[in-house]
Amino acid sequence: EDNGLAKTPLMGWSGWGFLQRDPSAAKFKAQVDALVSSGLKADGYVYANMDDFWYKCPGSQGPDVDANGRWVTDTTHFPGSGGKDGMQVLADYVHSKGLKFGLYVTPGISAQAVAKKTKILGSSHTADQIVSGSSASNFNCKGMKNIDFSKPGAQQFINSWADEFASWGVDYLKLDGVGSSKTADVKAWSSALKQTGRPIALNLSASLSASSTWSSLANSWRIDGDIGASPRGSSFPLTSWTNVSKRFNDAAKYQPYAGSGGWNDLDSLGVGNGGNDGLTSPERQTNVALWALASSQYMLGADLTHLDSADKALLTNKKVIAIDQDGIAAKRISDSGNEQVFAKKEKNGTWQIGIFNTDTSSSHTFSLPLSKLGISGSAKLTDVLSGKDLGTHSTYTTGVAAGGVAFTTVTP
Ligand code: GLA
Repeated sequence: EDNGLAKTPLMGWSGWGFLQRDPSAAKFKAQVDALVSSGLKADGYVYANMDDFWYKCPGSQGPDVDANGRWVTDTTHFPGSGGKDGMQVLADYVHSKGLKFGLYVTPGISAQAVAKKTKILGSSHTADQIVSGSSASNFNCKGMKNIDFSKPGAQQFINSWADEFASWGVDYLKLDGVGSSKTADVKAWSSALKQTGRPIALNLSASLSASSTWSSLANSWRIDGDIGASPRGSSFPLTSWTNVSKRFNDAAKYQPYAGSGGWNDLDSLGVGNGGNDGLTSPERQTNVALWALASSQYMLGADLTHLDSADKALLTNKKVIAIDQDGIAAKRISDSGNEQVFAKKEKNGTWQIGIFNTDTSSSHTFSLPLSKLGISGSAKLTDVLSGKDLGTHSTYTTGVAAGGVAFTTVTP
């Protein structure tokens, strides 16, 4: 959405990859501190996003709610202070570090609010009057009921929730559990965020087909399932090559939808904790290069308190970040056998290309005639990651490591 909040792809850290189902204020703050002390913030990683399970989730009856039907903060893990809600305390902390705070919600209304007939702020209606008679939407915490947005009070309910988030200092909202049938919820949240008067970016999740509907309502949308956990010692499946490599097709297919205001979200990067994050070193280069070439939303998923030094160099490589932030989603120009080639032309006429080897068991040599980019004659080649001068060629022939990438700048 062209609301001025995502002129370039949003960058930061997202809590799901590392904190998973067990977040706490202390763990979140440690990551926020590391975002600053590692230097990542200075490189543009400015969002610190709380993901699922920040709220009280007792079981099948849906999240616990306040007197107006809105989820309540899990005060055991996120204690309030001085009359402030635990989430506001956290948002204040994030803001005190010069960062922005993201939060997570799902469509619908908790079954508990419906059962208690909670009053809807700004309306004479109650929670039980805005649900549709049909089935509940059971997203992660279970027990969320579908809202019927043709009913009076439905939009006011979402508005009151968005107002609360705004009062806490939320800068980014991930609306998860969105599918094609949840368009009304997305519209309601998009307009609810606007009426708060606070700039709040909207991210939609997950496994969505990019579309003009999503791009008119949100600032980014997840175009595939979960990339996996990033960090050390997680009991969740780690980021896998399977999850990274399926993004080649996603990036190619949804390339036309990326642009100022709204971006494809390939999910958080599985890079940061070295060999513990599930990817080999060349595969980690592929992860970073594909996201940057696609101008994907660029959120980290790793445990930032244990950054691997080679990974940190990858994540803070200024050239890579600039390629993501140029906001030009690369097109796929080759998809054959073990080879995937993505290319984008910068405004100054320079090309950024990635020649990927999708064979994870052996290296291959690929040749790209630069005429495929529309370049006649030869051009100067530079390795993006190392900055190394690769000479002047009219056909670029290069060996690419198993699962790796020749990430190259082509200057005609
Ligand atoms: C879904 C999303 C993930 C994460 C989890 C939280 O799986 O795709 O990114 O938010 O829910 O439960």
